[in-house]
Amino acid sequence: MRPDVGTQAQFKKRKPPATYRYDSSLSPALDWDGQNPAREQGEKQLSVIEENLSVVHRQLSVENPSTEDLKEAAASLRQAEEATRTLKALSKPFLNWAGKAERLSFDVPTLPLFVHERLSTKAIVETLTSHKRDKQQTMFELFGDPQHSVTDQVLRAYEHRDKWVNRMMLGDSLAVMNSLLHYEGLGGHVQMIYMDPPYGVKFGSNFQPFVRKRDVSHNDDEDMTREPEMVQAYRDTWELGLHSYLTYLRDRLLLARDLLAPSGSIFVQISDENLHHVKELMDETFGHENYSAILAFTKAASGLESVSRIASRMDYLLWYARDVARVRYAPLFEKRDDPIDSGFTLIELPDGTVRALSREEKDGRAPMPEGSKFLMSVLMTKPGPGSKYQVEFKGRVYDSGRRWWGTTQEGMQQVIRANRVIATENSIRFIKYFDDFQFKSLSNLWDGLGGAADPVYVVQTSPEVIKRCILMTTDPGDLVIDPTCGSGTTAYVAEQWGRRWITIDTSRVPLALARQRLLTATFPWYELKDEPRGPAGGFVYVRKQNKKGEETGGIVPHVTLESIANNEPPKEEVLVDRP
Ligand SMILES: C[S@@+](CC[C@H](N)C(=O)[O-])C[C@H]1O[C@@H](n2cnc3c(N)ncnc32)[C@H](O)[C@@H]1O
Repeated sequence: MRPDVGTQAQFKKRKPPATYRYDSSLSPALDWDGQNPAREQGEKQLSVIEENLSVVHRQLSVENPSTEDLKEAAASLRQAEEATRTLKALSKPFLNWAGKAERLSFDVPTLPLFVHERLSTKAIVETLTSHKRDKQQTMFELFGDPQHSVTDQVLRAYEHRDKWVNRMMLGDSLAVMNSLLHYEGLGGHVQMIYMDPPYGVKFGSNFQPFVRKRDVSHNDDEDMTREPEMVQAYRDTWELGLHSYLTYLRDRLLLARDLLAPSGSIFVQISDENLHHVKELMDETFGHENYSAILAFTKAASGLESVSRIASRMDYLLWYARDVARVRYAPLFEKRDDPIDSGFTLIELPDGTVRALSREEKDGRAPMPEGSKFLMSVLMTKPGPGSKYQVEFKGRVYDSGRRWWGTTQEGMQQVIRANRVIATENSIRFIKYFDDFQFKSLSNLWDGLGGAADPVYVVQTSPEVIKRCILMTTDPGDLVIDPTCGSGTTAYVAEQWGRRWITIDTSRVPLALARQRLLTATFPWYELKDEPRGPAGGFVYVRKQNKKGEETGGIVPHVTLESIANNEPPKEEVLVDRP
């Protein structure tokens, strides 16, 4: 659909600006005085409820109501419920700031997109082949795959269905997202949005104005950009400080929501300074029920100390689903390195005896007995209703006490036969070996990532952070948008993982850095399940083990109490980050 360069033919027809409206019930507050519009709104909702309930009463009071009557009553009930929800929202606390109450709607110009430059895979390959010979050599070795010839390896790039092209766009995210909605029809088609807006209103927290200068200080003329439109944008955007910042973000979040697919997710990266405000905004825009998590990740610990405050090492991601009931989520797993740190503090000796580790063994002063296996014992009962029966084990009889057994009676016998039960003083417990599953699912604390290695941009995000967000919430071939491109980390990671991407920035400096970064990047190639469908058909995952018996592939077995009780082969877990 897109021309090589220039404006698309269909864009020639001008479109009027698009108007976006906020849910007026969310502001201002419910404080029933004469001047407050909330009073009027509240009264209106109350009358909607009354009217609809009277319809319900009328329809249901007739003898033998017809299907039509019942349908009408149900529709009226739904309307009454909707009005109740609106009324409830009026009474919830919310964040207010200067200008919010007045901004119940805003217009965004609906601008056509202009294609400035088009780069094909061929052009990128030419760039690659013009690299120095020695550089090429290491590159080929790095991706050495005897099945493919050298040219084959270099020439491979993911091709998406319908000749989709990824895009880097210069412009204000608000206007560009509006164009994506109204000219490109992308509303409801974006699987994930990663947004890393300025952390606050200070100049240095926004972006880096020069390509070569990386130490940007706040409010210093020296560090002011020379791009006139940036100076203008900077002044306009932050005129009222934090108040403007909140308006700026809320508007963009509203458009981001319209772009998201029903199963989509949005991540907003922010520091502790404004985390609480941004969460309020996102609760308002996406609904508190769609809140998924606050992810905390550590950043590089440099220059963060101060005489009056403790050093800050965390940045945060606010994750909201477009609709929590339909969200796409693949858990990520991390390898457990140390059994003892993971709580496996019992060992089974080769003769079958189980004992606790000695203090010396725990702190590494004494070696582990040869051939021993790490294990922990876990409860076999659960709090909710299940089975209650008596179990005989090694001459003693056990019951589930006030709780319920987690398996059937037959399953329990199976677990005993598999030598997976251990008796403690008053109960029996399940033996879980470290080797049953050498992984643990990732939590919301992401430690040890540091900042971006060798950053090109002063506010560059670590690719690992964005990689995790992409892998958790998207499939290969899905569309990812970053309206705050910066040095293009989202595009970079999305490209590697076969996701389609669009990235936007108002400033030429970061876009120039991102363009360079993407054009000179090389990535591993993941085998596709269905080559003609491209990445959308999915990647291939296989089970692999190294000489030590450690699972190194993308499919790993997961032995559980359930699989043993049911005498089934272990469950297979897919580690999506290991195609
Ligand atoms: C914190 S940086 C993003 C850094 C990025 N995550 C990376 O890894 O490099 C924020 C970026 O948003 C851009 N930006 C700020 N306001 C914008 C707007 N209204 N529209 C588009 N981009 C904007 C800035 O120019 C800056 O490059």
